[in-house]
Amino acid sequence: MPLPPRSSHVSRARALSTAAPVVFSSALVFSAMLHGSQSGGPAAARSVWDGVFTEAQAERGRGFFLEHCASCHGAELEGREHKALKGDRFWADWQETTVDYLFDQTRTSMPFSEDGSLAGTLGTRTYADIVAHILHTNGFPAGRGELSLESSAGVQIVRKDGSGELPTGSFAHVVGCLTRGPDRSWRLLKGSRPVRVLNKRPVDVSIPLGDREYTLMFVLTSLDKFAGYRMSVQASLMEGGTGRLNVRTISAVSVTCE
Ligand code: HEC
Repeated sequence: MPLPPRSSHVSRARALSTAAPVVFSSALVFSAMLHGSQSGGPAAARSVWDGVFTEAQAERGRGFFLEHCASCHGAELEGREHKALKGDRFWADWQETTVDYLFDQTRTSMPFSEDGSLAGTLGTRTYADIVAHILHTNGFPAGRGELSLESSAGVQIVRKDGSGELPTGSFAHVVGCLTRGPDRSWRLLKGSRPVRVLNKRPVDVSIPLGDREYTLMFVLTSLDKFAGYRMSVQASLMEGGTGRLNVRTISAVSVTCE
């Protein structure tokens, strides 16, 4: 799925994962003090595999989707010139989040319009039906109860086999130790497992180091004075949960790295 063109109205929506300037924050990032769950609620037993909407609801949602969303996202959610809402793109955007997060992002930003005036205009039950349709189209099973804003809380969006690696294209946060690689590249050693970056939620820079190694791509600013530091990097994953990172922001967390 090619990325949509970066038209003016696309760039106003949540930024796409192209190379962006490197931003430094102060040595200690405030979010280190926050230890909130990244997935939007207490670990719940329920997941999208538990039948969290009904067939009839998804069918209603299909109608609303065709009316309000398909012109940009495609009748089959295939994306056209905008973001696809199914398949690989769905997993890259929503794996390891929850249905209430998907619901909330949709409700607070869609239908898209240049001035934002259409966002949130459809009514909560209509959004619920549309989210049911998105879930249905992605192959999750229908069940006996309808989806609502309340019932969506904490419902995990996970692979059927439970595997938790974020796919290529996910926008994620990692920490690691900055070091020089071959050909003057920059690498992160002792890298953590990537954690998805959620809109308007702070990242946790105190997560433990791991044993992953990353190559930092598209870093536009000199990192020389940070060699050996513990760094926090937000990037889109170019090779799943390891390998090259398309860096959006990088900041120093501490002068030592252990
Ligand atoms: C006028 C075009 C337009 C319409 C209509 C529209 N969208 Fe979007 N949508 C966008 C754009 C632009 C983005 C930003 C990402 C991109 O580049 O595609 C987006 C992003 C999204 C996202 C991802 C949000 C995120 O946080 O990543 C979802 C989900 C979504 N739209 C669902 C919907 C639904 C559901 C509807 C109908 C209620 C809808 N959209 C109607 C253009 C539109």
